[in-house]
Amino acid sequence: MNTENTLKGSEETVRRLAREGDLPDKELAALIETDEYDELLFRLADERRREIYGTDVYIRGLIEFSNYCRNNCYYCGIRLDNSLVDRYRLTREEILECCREGYALGYRTFVLQSGEDGYYTDARICEIVREIREGYPDCAITLSIGEKSRESYEAFFEAGANRYLLRHETADPEHYGRLHPSVMSGENRKRCLFDLKEIGYQVGAGFMVGTPYQTTGNLVSDFRFMQELGPDMIGIGPYLTHEHTPFRDYPNGSFKLTLRLLAITRLMFPYALIPATTALGTIDPTGREKGLKAGCNVVMPNLSPVRFRKLYELYDNKICTGEEAAQCVGCLEMRVKNAGYRIVTDIGNAKRPPRDREGER
Ligand code: 5AD
Ligand code: FES
Repeated sequence: MNTENTLKGSEETVRRLAREGDLPDKELAALIETDEYDELLFRLADERRREIYGTDVYIRGLIEFSNYCRNNCYYCGIRLDNSLVDRYRLTREEILECCREGYALGYRTFVLQSGEDGYYTDARICEIVREIREGYPDCAITLSIGEKSRESYEAFFEAGANRYLLRHETADPEHYGRLHPSVMSGENRKRCLFDLKEIGYQVGAGFMVGTPYQTTGNLVSDFRFMQELGPDMIGIGPYLTHEHTPFRDYPNGSFKLTLRLLAITRLMFPYALIPATTALGTIDPTGREKGLKAGCNVVMPNLSPVRFRKLYELYDNKICTGEEAAQCVGCLEMRVKNAGYRIVTDIGNAKRPPRDREGER
């Protein structure tokens, strides 16, 4: 084959993705596997993001309120069987105090995240959500507390929660089975996501890059699943090893591949809210800035009390857990600015394509 043609063909593939927002499986797989067009890909992803969101970057205040978890995902540092974790829970008052501080700093979204912790019954979660909703009617309340029944999700929604993050982790059932014990299923996870969506939540899905056994075909399936779901938010970060998990001997996911997938995500889901994740900032010192330049438009600084941050360790070497962590917010703001973007403090709902808004006043 003539190399010039191949090159042109593939550049054309990137341009086609940018133009049409989609590619056939084969072309998508080929693009995932080459780093040759990364620069073009990042440039087009950034262009698309600027068309829709300008230079705006939304901030979400992350409150990691419990690191207890009943599950045993093979990759996760706070899994049930990791007896070396110091477990903690924030009280209702402590959670509310995080919101108070966050609000004063300009946060209009609070993300309440935890392991699947039975202590927080539906009644307790609802009580906390209600209180935040009453105190901060102008804020979005995002839950990220795992797989629940549809009834539970409905109750949280009634109480005032309006967004939910639940990464699907991998859309392929077989791959899902290699990352989780058999009591968990990808099918249930997908059911949760569709329930959440039907109830009326803004929903976040997503996956890790470079988990053990992940293939390019799996990543293509992840995109196809997300096209079916239509998530408002898409969380993608590199898999990072944690030394006290069954996957301790597997290497970290690739930073470059993660950036490439983020850019592809922006082109396939132009309107999505895509965070430059903490994992991205952990694998590379300026990973979050590079993520922003490849199409990300959200950052999620940690609002948890500094003394607990090190304990919420899903993977090794998590950033922003030391003494300096109290300044996270200012630090991230400066980083965003230096990367050429601007933090905005409105509620930051996903924008929608013009045809979706027909009939609205
Ligand atoms: N490396 C990177 N991300 C991880 N997560 C869990 N464990 C790890 C790890 N070892 C991600 C999962 C989960 C999110 C909260 O954190 O995708 O959904
Ligand atoms: Fe807690 Fe996976 S280990 S949900």
